[in-house]
Amino acid sequence: MRFLSDVEPAQDLPEPLPGFVDRVLAGWQECRLSTRILLRGGRIQDLCKVQPGEERYFIQDAPQHRQREFSAGRRLAHQALAMIGADGTHLPRKPNGDVVWPPGVCGSLSHTEDFCLVAVANQSTRETGIACNIAGEDQILGIGIDIEKLDRLYFDDWQMLFSMQEMEMLEALPSEWQPRYATLIFSAKESYIKAIGGWNDAITDFCSLQTNWQIGTASPLIYPITETTFSLPRQVSWHVFVDSYVVTAICLTS
Ligand SMILES: CC(C)(COP(=O)(O)OP(=O)(O)OC[C@H]1O[C@@H](n2cnc3c(N)ncnc32)[C@H](O)[C@@H]1OP(=O)(O)O)[C@@H](O)C(=O)NCCC(=O)NCCS
Repeated sequence: MRFLSDVEPAQDLPEPLPGFVDRVLAGWQECRLSTRILLRGGRIQDLCKVQPGEERYFIQDAPQHRQREFSAGRRLAHQALAMIGADGTHLPRKPNGDVVWPPGVCGSLSHTEDFCLVAVANQSTRETGIACNIAGEDQILGIGIDIEKLDRLYFDDWQMLFSMQEMEMLEALPSEWQPRYATLIFSAKESYIKAIGGWNDAITDFCSLQTNWQIGTASPLIYPITETTFSLPRQVSWHVFVDSYVVTAICLTS
């Protein structure tokens, strides 16, 4: 199987360098979403030590590394929710893996082996003192955040991840750019899936989604490939490349 990164000169992507989270958060501060959505990040090893009893139930049979990342994500989410004035002391897990956020709150989580990120927002307001400027007073319907290492995708996986149009766009790029932009589009699709609350009857795989994004034009927006009879939510997206990772976020608004 050919590794996507094989199209580049040989490389061995390093783990994030010191200050990784700070650099992600610095990128976030320049984004239109940042005034309404709180993004927090941290090292799993620093965050995974404390775990409320009820949440442990959801991963008690999982492998150790999974327990650590789950605990860290929940801990970070509790901190972020407290910062926006929401009560998030218990965050159950839905059967499909999504988090049960407190009423009136949207959020999303993502982890690497070492780090986790969480994004949270009050759905409708200025209550937290965080000014709203996504689009006036639009209600936030969903948030998705995702972090991916740039060497994660196999070239042979492209067909199950990308539409023909996306493949053509990626293949037209200089080979050294392909891994990073393929991973960016894949990550944006993951963020979109999280923002809509997971897979559904219409969005069953990555090829159910597409982007008409062009490099150099803001961040990828993701759309279902099938025609819909209802209007789609509006979308704001963001991405940043830091070290050998890309982080994407998508926010759906009314
Ligand atoms: C959620 C999903 C879309 C992405 O997860 P991921 O990128 O593998 O992992 P991340 O660390 O970024 O995100 C995991 C978090 O997403 C959240 N999540 C899980 N399922 C979710 C859902 N249905 N809706 C919204 N959020 C969800 C959870 O908070 C989870 O963390 P937690 O379990 O510790 O609470 C995953 O369910 C999925 O389907 N991945 C597809 C993987 C795949 O096919 N890859 C092919 C690569 S070739």
